Amino acid sequence: MIIQTIDTTPFSGQKPGTSGLRKKVTEFAQPHYLANFVACIFAAVKPAEGFAGKTLVLGGDGRYFNPEALQIILKMAAAQGFARVLLAQNGILSTPAASHLIRLNQAFGGLVLSASHNEGGPNGDFGIKFNCANGGPAPEKITDAIYALTTSITSYQIMDAPDVDPSQLGRQFVGEMVVEVIDSVVDYVALMEQLFDFEALRGLFASGFTMKFDAMSAVTGPYAHAIFENALGAPLGTVLNGKPLPDFGGHHPDPNIVHAKALYDLMMSEHAPDFGAASDGDGDRNLIIGKGMFVAPSDSLALLAANATCAPAYAKGLAGVARSMPTSMAVDRVAEKLGVPCFETPTGWKFFGNLLDAGQITFCGEESAGASSDHIREKDGLWAVLLWLSILAVRRQSVRDIVLAHWAIYGQNYYTRHDYEAVDTQAANQVMQHIESQFSALVGQQFGSLTVSAADNFSYHDSIDGSVSHNQGLRIAFECGSRIVYRLSGTGTSGATIRIYIERFESTQNQARHNLETQAALADLIALARQFSNIQALTGRAEPSAIT
Ligand code: G1P
Ligand code: ZN
Repeated sequence: MIIQTIDTTPFSGQKPGTSGLRKKVTEFAQPHYLANFVACIFAAVKPAEGFAGKTLVLGGDGRYFNPEALQIILKMAAAQGFARVLLAQNGILSTPAASHLIRLNQAFGGLVLSASHNEGGPNGDFGIKFNCANGGPAPEKITDAIYALTTSITSYQIMDAPDVDPSQLGRQFVGEMVVEVIDSVVDYVALMEQLFDFEALRGLFASGFTMKFDAMSAVTGPYAHAIFENALGAPLGTVLNGKPLPDFGGHHPDPNIVHAKALYDLMMSEHAPDFGAASDGDGDRNLIIGKGMFVAPSDSLALLAANATCAPAYAKGLAGVARSMPTSMAVDRVAEKLGVPCFETPTGWKFFGNLLDAGQITFCGEESAGASSDHIREKDGLWAVLLWLSILAVRRQSVRDIVLAHWAIYGQNYYTRHDYEAVDTQAANQVMQHIESQFSALVGQQFGSLTVSAADNFSYHDSIDGSVSHNQGLRIAFECGSRIVYRLSGTGTSGATIRIYIERFESTQNQARHNLETQAALADLIALARQFSNIQALTGRAEPSAIT
């Protein structure tokens, strides 16, 4: 078998975003497009001694174009001289399971083929991200290097070899490179058994506790069947949409109340089970809903931190916590009470990696339905569900009672995110410039009962590696602890997406003002957010395209 050198030209716009490169399938499927990007990843991360003797982990969320992409990557990895690829059977590998496999096998890194919660199918999105030896997403200095290479690439190398059969467990070869096809569910379930008391969770289900988990026809189906129905004894049918499909059954595999509407409606009905949960395309996000009670992701993070000792792995407590900057400050109050540090990082999981590696934090999370711990270096949907189940098994209260009790102790952070999707890129940039241009004038100004106390463009100073990340979102803070945050999404695939995050704190003294309808509770701040940004005039949008 021979290594071929293929001439190519750079493709514009191959800039990795918040988590890897995401584009339409139609773009990725162009000749050389995927190969170009993969070649640039390999070139950016290649150690001086090359890839000889090194292992690469490979898999994805099963979306359309995964099978073709796997074969291209295997042949390129062989041409690069990798010793071994651990390939998930049929390519089915959740993001958290990939992170674990990399760490478990001391792999050089891994490639995950996913566009997360974006829609799949031939007209949907595709994506690819590289995770490093610590199991976490590549940090900015690597993604910047990858991008620089995509602007100048002229050729790539690929092994001329027959395809591998990804359904066949065991060893195959591409040239001299070993391809070991493994069942990625087994190792992941073993990790969960180390963290959680499966005996206690079996007891919870044996007591008649009921749950529905919506795998959204995405990657978590096989993992969820193995954990909830096989290991924990929940009845068959507990897992909904458990078979991964290339187009996710025509839905967005996005675990929120819009795309997991059937689950949401069930949980709000009189037939609701005790607990409802869902995960996204690649299994790193979570949705938690109790009987008649949706739990906002920021609240969920705070609750998990406050109740961490319900799981054996965290019985000794937490070293610290971290949240992305736009995530609500609910977890800050928990950290304060626990007497542990709380870090504020830019959006995107890659920024948690250094803090986790340094042992400074145990839990971290984002408002976008991601939470996880130091067990891996990615967010982990099923982990969040298992920790919730652990809390329910210990406290034997309803989700609703647990949330209300939490607010009574810590106060409530009302929180919403308004997204303006597929906005003209220039208009989106104008919105951001317009907001920033008012910063000095805004500070000290009073708007009704709200006085602006600070306004800035968030820069993050990584205390571990000393790096600085600028331009991570515009923040306007008010004296009462309320906040408005604006940022441009780094994961969209058409135009720009403006995200506006709005938060208001209601103290424990004001319990009568807890548990109100969220949008109504935030109405004055929402109006101010629109006024400051002049968003309607600049983008032509009167209303956001999505409210979460
Ligand atoms: C979004 C979320 C962010 C998350 C990322 C990857 O990124 O907001 O919290 O880490 O997806 O799942 P954004 O589109 O806002 O850049
Ligand atoms: Zn995801």
